[in-house]
Amino acid sequence: MHIITINGIRAYLANPVLSQNIHIYETLNSTNEEARKLEQGSIIIALSQTSGRGRHGKSFHSPSGGIYMSLVLNNCQLSTVNRQLTTPAAAVTVCNVIETVTGNSCKIKWVNDIFLNNKKICGILTEAVSGAVILGIGINVTANEEYAGIFNSDIPENTHNRLIAGIINSITSDTWLENVIPEYKKRCFILGKQVKYGETTAIAVDINEFGNLITEKPDGTRDVLSSGEVSVTL
Ligand code: BTN
Repeated sequence: MHIITINGIRAYLANPVLSQNIHIYETLNSTNEEARKLEQGSIIIALSQTSGRGRHGKSFHSPSGGIYMSLVLNNCQLSTVNRQLTTPAAAVTVCNVIETVTGNSCKIKWVNDIFLNNKKICGILTEAVSGAVILGIGINVTANEEYAGIFNSDIPENTHNRLIAGIINSITSDTWLENVIPEYKKRCFILGKQVKYGETTAIAVDINEFGNLITEKPDGTRDVLSSGEVSVTL
């Protein structure tokens, strides 16, 4: 075990070698941006971001009180299928770790938003760069006037570090990409619901082995969605 210390508070890492690659900042523009400059295996953590990036070119509000982290994963060791599973696997990991550390049970909105009590509390942005995949995770630990969080007030001591260490320990374990889809489906709250994407309204019926969403339209034909945004209409 190795101790990770953030703001004087400690948590435990399963793999001591990892601690050499962990870079912790009070604030950064974007941990995903910083990750592009670093070698594979690096982990960047910021306690706030000034230009946090979200999916589809949106910004990700990143005030202090949250967790903003990016992991530079080794592309060569990820097969094509596993690369596709990176985002769903990260979503499952974050849910499991939040549940272990805080006792709260989170749900996943395909493809990679994490909800607690019907509100988004975490976003995941996976970006492919040459030779690596950057996995960015932003968690609203504390709620603020604009955004929901895991806690409204009174955060138990050491919560941030236990969440960070739990996520790193899980993602760097040999079994990280095992059993991803069954676990993802258990947490995915849109399955069985009516969803809308573009002009299409359909029922979300399944998630396939690659993490794609299968929908069934009123005429019985099916779509296979690999990315994009769906909204739940019923
Ligand atoms: C989304 O919900 O659209 C994805 C948000 C991803 C935010 C995280 S915070 C850490 C990492 N650095 C960034 O600039 N973005 C990701």
